[in-house]
Amino acid sequence: MSQQRDQWTSNVGFVLAAAGSAIGLGNLWKFPFITWNNHGGAFVLVYLMCIAGVGLPIMMAELLIGRSTQKSPVGALKEAIGPAWGLVGAWGVLAGFSILSYYSVVAGWSLFYFVKTLGWSLTGFPADVQTGAIFASVVSNGWRQILLSGLFSMGTVATVYFGVHGGIEKISRIFLPVLFAILLLLLFSALTMDGAGEALHFIFRPNFHELEPRGILEALGHSFFTLSLGMGAMITYGSYIKRDKSLVSSATIIVVLDTVIALFATIIMFSVIFTVPGMPEQVSSSTVGMLFISLPQLFYQVVPFGRILGPLFYVLVAMAALTSTISLLEVVVSYFIDERAMPRPKATLVSGAAIFVFTILAALSFGEVSWLSSFELVHGKQGFFATLDHFASNYQLPIGGLFITIGCGWFMTRKQTEDELVDDQTPGWFSYGVWRFFIRFVAPAAVAAILIAVLFFGADFS
Ligand code: PHE
Repeated sequence: MSQQRDQWTSNVGFVLAAAGSAIGLGNLWKFPFITWNNHGGAFVLVYLMCIAGVGLPIMMAELLIGRSTQKSPVGALKEAIGPAWGLVGAWGVLAGFSILSYYSVVAGWSLFYFVKTLGWSLTGFPADVQTGAIFASVVSNGWRQILLSGLFSMGTVATVYFGVHGGIEKISRIFLPVLFAILLLLLFSALTMDGAGEALHFIFRPNFHELEPRGILEALGHSFFTLSLGMGAMITYGSYIKRDKSLVSSATIIVVLDTVIALFATIIMFSVIFTVPGMPEQVSSSTVGMLFISLPQLFYQVVPFGRILGPLFYVLVAMAALTSTISLLEVVVSYFIDERAMPRPKATLVSGAAIFVFTILAALSFGEVSWLSSFELVHGKQGFFATLDHFASNYQLPIGGLFITIGCGWFMTRKQTEDELVDDQTPGWFSYGVWRFFIRFVAPAAVAAILIAVLFFGADFS
């Protein structure tokens, strides 16, 4: 435990790493789909309100708990609030374990589609290709699923193995700017398409008649997932910050970047979809469908410069996913380093291997192994993958988030939090009093509403 604790080399490095954690499949895979399902406009507005009113204050709370204690979640919560709160940290470690195990499966698909689209770009897109059938064959082929998610998990383990600044920060410094550049290219291409106007209209024109109450709760649930909140990822990343820059500014930049990228991704996908007659009706009723079934062929049929942008798009998905999976693994690994005094290499390999066992189960739950694919613990959620996703989004993150906001708002002293948030670098618009009101009242009430909806009214946010 006496080993020198790893740190970010600079505030920029930290912000890029934390933004990398936030920006991931949640932005590219989940957000466009739930926006589609909830009819855009009003849903997007509610989502933005949840991000600003719940996500941002909790982001500041997690970062300040991490920075003030310089410990990973279990130790941090014990020290900042009290011994029993270590349980909340342990809950987060478990959440990291379960999210990582299914997340790597989707991330693996992006590798497959990168290679596939690269092939199409080089040799031409075959006229008779059935992208739906291709996807079905990918997910139902157990060995290929294990290979793809295994390759991806190796990338995650390798990065975390090299530590906070030697691995995580280095990768984030390269990936985030590249990711931004690719996304901007895609955005410019999408905005020239015929469907762009309709897409913008769909996303930004609020029509409150179309918003169902469960959409509000869905927006709130998603804001935890997309900002990596509720399981200690931001506590962990915060614990590697040196105390020199304002936490308020860093938290705001991370949240804004995450939100902008989710919106860009949605504009891109919807512009493509609205450009093809009949496509809006066809977009299959799954998130996976939009990203891996509809889009691949459209790159070759309607997207300007699609031959180049297609493979780039799947590289983007893979890079965004990797900067998120490393943060999930880091939560687990930092627990073993800080609380069990394990050296980083051993902690990384042991937790990476243990999680991969569950990744294999998730990878095989798309048909290859029938009991894994078909059991239904929760109504409508079939199989291991869907069940893990359901528990993580509906229970693990909101429950973790509820305790963090209550702990920070009601059990930490005013001085403890004010000292972290207010210093001579704090931006002028920030009001500590407003933050404290949100963290004590608004955020807990909102999160409690999600849980009540899930537990008593059968709502589902996964
Ligand atoms: N925020 C990530 C995404 O949007 C997912 C994630 C959740 C990462 C929780 C870390 C912790 O894809």
